[in-house]
Amino acid sequence: MAKICVIGSCSMDLVVTSSKRPHAGETVLGDSFTTVPGGKGANQAVAAARLGADVTMIGCIGDDYHGKAIMDNFKLNHVLTTFVEPVTDIESGTAHIILAEGDNSIIVVKGANDRVTPAYVERALDAIRNSDMVLIQQEIPEETVAYVSDLCHEFNVPMLLNPAPARPISEKIIENATYLTPNEHECTILFGGMSTTEALRKYPNKLFITVGSHGVRYYDGNQEVVVPTYKVNAIDTTGAGDTFNAAFAVALAEGNSLQDSVKFANRAASLSVTKFGAQGGMPTRAEVEESL
Ligand code: RIB
Repeated sequence: MAKICVIGSCSMDLVVTSSKRPHAGETVLGDSFTTVPGGKGANQAVAAARLGADVTMIGCIGDDYHGKAIMDNFKLNHVLTTFVEPVTDIESGTAHIILAEGDNSIIVVKGANDRVTPAYVERALDAIRNSDMVLIQQEIPEETVAYVSDLCHEFNVPMLLNPAPARPISEKIIENATYLTPNEHECTILFGGMSTTEALRKYPNKLFITVGSHGVRYYDGNQEVVVPTYKVNAIDTTGAGDTFNAAFAVALAEGNSLQDSVKFANRAASLSVTKFGAQGGMPTRAEVEESL
């Protein structure tokens, strides 16, 4: 069983569905409001656990109603919560999501996720050292991502950085990361002066650019590889990227080839969009294998 350590955000997603997205200054009537667990870190932890990995989450929640629900959801999904702690002076992170016109718009209020500091992560050094893969994103402080990337380098533990939401990162973090999985937009923020083709060639077998329904591009040292996605009837694309990252990490940690790992991750991500909510459609291992 692959041991995965996820360091990242735990949030509650407050989701409104509407036939129309409001413009600035406009009010529209929505169709429904639902509260479901989310946050990129928590989503990736749950996705990896459903795919059969032994997952430890490192994150912070508020000592509040949402925090309790987030914790219960981890337990339900067999994610180890030894390093998920409630902080008392700030509320749990929330994501305010509008699902309209076939896509989502999201505002994240980080709340307790800002407390995932290097000092906080330091408590979990053994879990990090003993994992087969560390999975990290950017809804936590920048200095924590830098700190974890140094740790992974020092411990020789592979680190998959999902650079979402986008922000510029240092060359050192990029060097320390074993795998980077930006989408096209995040890629332009990471490698501003370079075209995607130039960036891919600069980071062979490290940079995996997700290009929506076109699939995933990477450079294998000889040629560019495009691994196509699967066509499905999408209900809600929220969490598809998280499912991709988790499944990619699980497949790699189990020793699969890069190309097979991307294929597995694409399949898992395509299944995830067939149900409502970031975690609603995240598949089990059996579901991915059956569909492959
Ligand atoms: O990646 C999807 C996630 O991003 C949502 O669950 C929401 O919490 C936002 O952080």
